[in-house]
Amino acid sequence: MKFYITTPLYYVNAEPHVGHTYTTVAADCLARFYRMKGYDVFFLTGTDEHGQKIYEASKKEGLTPIELADRVSEIFKNMWEKINISYDRFIRTTEKQHEEVVKKVFKNLLEKGELYKGEYKGFYCVHCESYVNVEDKTKPICPDCKRDISEISETSYFFKLSKYQNILENIIENTEFVKPDFRKNEVLNFVKIGLSDLSITRRNVAWGIESPTDEKYTIYVWFDALLNYLSGIGYLYDEETFKKYWPPDVQLIGKDIMRFHHIIWPAILLSLNLPLPKKIFAHGWWISGKEKISKSKGNIISPEYFINEYGPDPFRFFLLREIPFGLDGEFSEENFKKRYNSDLVNDFGNLLNRTLNLIEKKFNDYVPEGEIDNQIIEISYDVYKKFSEKIENISFSEAIEEIWKLVVFLNKYLDEKTPWRETANSEKTIISVFYGIRNLLIFLYPFIPQTCEKMANMLGLKIEEIKKLGNFKIKYSGRIKIGKREIIFYRKK
Ligand code: ME8
Ligand code: MG
Repeated sequence: MKFYITTPLYYVNAEPHVGHTYTTVAADCLARFYRMKGYDVFFLTGTDEHGQKIYEASKKEGLTPIELADRVSEIFKNMWEKINISYDRFIRTTEKQHEEVVKKVFKNLLEKGELYKGEYKGFYCVHCESYVNVEDKTKPICPDCKRDISEISETSYFFKLSKYQNILENIIENTEFVKPDFRKNEVLNFVKIGLSDLSITRRNVAWGIESPTDEKYTIYVWFDALLNYLSGIGYLYDEETFKKYWPPDVQLIGKDIMRFHHIIWPAILLSLNLPLPKKIFAHGWWISGKEKISKSKGNIISPEYFINEYGPDPFRFFLLREIPFGLDGEFSEENFKKRYNSDLVNDFGNLLNRTLNLIEKKFNDYVPEGEIDNQIIEISYDVYKKFSEKIENISFSEAIEEIWKLVVFLNKYLDEKTPWRETANSEKTIISVFYGIRNLLIFLYPFIPQTCEKMANMLGLKIEEIKKLGNFKIKYSGRIKIGKREIIFYRKK
């Protein structure tokens, strides 16, 4: 079984902020989960580097566009390394291989009659890299980002988007293509208003992939960028890899770029006779001070701060736990700290500490051997089943809620069994809790991988053991000696 997952390719005009890390951490969580299930996973991410917006950003910084792209794509890679993003490929749209694919696709579509030459006269928003309709032509502003925009008038190659209207309506209504479900109407309404053909070249934008048939034009940056999902796995140059992974099982995006992904993208695929992605899931926005977090709003929240202050895993945990995936949420340090102290320090961290203390003091660092309490075996199975369903349904916060039932149960179990008492018969209690914690490490691995590895070491477990989902069923045999201890979560004031 294969699992192909993608994130958007982020523009290199801005350094990664909380919003970009959100989508990428979510994709990483799914990628890890499916690997743990034994799937052959391909996880693609990268950067979007062409077009007018990047060109203008580079000029502002006194760089050439490729200098800017080189610099910022490195910053993205470094950030992904810091928070342990396990991508299989990081694609840049300025790579030769990608550019060749874009040119070939353009040429194929032209030959198939899916493109035609015409005249574009209308408004263009550079910030959104989008052709837009405006209401008041005397004071034109972008309907999405509300910036001032200007009219352009140029000959162009058009993609016959309009001819896919009916088929798109049908797909949106009757398949899982648009996720979450409550976003369907929004997309559908947009399609129903009527689709116009899409200009996919620019006459006066030099920073882009040159049209293979007419050097006066460069290819429209969104047409270029969307094709990364094909070129990233070998389309038109590595058919074996492409065949293995196509179509995407899940594509994650923010709700800001739904139209491109839920309308233009499937239409391009239909024109190429390719099967469509199974699901394109649009999540909500992180908000700060009532506005979407974005470079242009100047309300950026730096992931670095939270990673340095709390660690990469608490940051990942907060993103996926705090807000139901799909809805908007307020990012504040106050909420972050609350979540951190209550879930990670109090619940999870304490559970581990209490258990290790007991093993150390009562059993000289050796995990007692014996039978595991059936209650804990049963709840492990139950939690496994429920949290897997939630993840497969792309409901991260609910998945963690399910896992937390085991955390809470184990803490309560210790309270009730009081294995620290002199007189208590504590072997069974401790081996049972030990088994429960081992299962927590397995279940939480997709969310907080580094923490789970550290904890596995402390418990004297092999890291490999917690990287396979099915291992939660394995009971222990033989003597386990706990490892060196360290404090992972420090309480924050
Ligand atoms: O749109 N909250 O790139 P981009 C949640 N290059 N997610 C957010 C966010 C926020 N406040 N801000 C950004 C582009 N994101 C194009 C994509 S794909 C072929 C080309 C995330 O740098 C979210 O995933 O503007 C959003 O869709 C994406 O970053 C936009 O990144
Ligand atoms: Mg954007």
